[in-house]
Amino acid sequence: MSAVSAPRIEVIHGVNLDQLGRRDPAHYGRLDLPALERQIDAWARPLGLTPSFFQTNHEGALVEHLHGLRGSAEAIIINPGAWTHYAYAIHDALEIAGLPAVEVHLSAVKQREAWRQTSVISDLCVATVSGKGPEGYLEALQILKKELAG
Ligand code: DQA
Repeated sequence: MSAVSAPRIEVIHGVNLDQLGRRDPAHYGRLDLPALERQIDAWARPLGLTPSFFQTNHEGALVEHLHGLRGSAEAIIINPGAWTHYAYAIHDALEIAGLPAVEVHLSAVKQREAWRQTSVISDLCVATVSGKGPEGYLEALQILKKELAG
């Protein structure tokens, strides 16, 4: 059987996402990061997925975290924050990780400033979910569940 029994999903938040709760609620809602992570955990468990969480404001730390992921996770959910739009080193590290990934944005990045409309990681991701608030992470979990069962 190829499917892993309780797939481990690494949920990664990049720069400034530790500041959720202090950021513009019109774009990012009112949950702080610990509350968002608890919600993601509560959605993942009934789907038979085991989430782990990582956040950093340091690009090199995220690069090194991605380098170490193979063997400790089966898939990735990643919201890189502003790194999404320009951080080619995150692109290359995600490629090295070599795991199925879904890109999530709380806000509707395609309807915001022009510079937010580029993602340097979306070519590596099985899907991008944006503008759905916390529910975007539920959608990402459901996408990865199907992807891993595939
Ligand atoms: C974000 C969108 C980015 O443009 C922004 O820099 C963030 C958060 C989102 O979740 O909507 O920090 O990734």
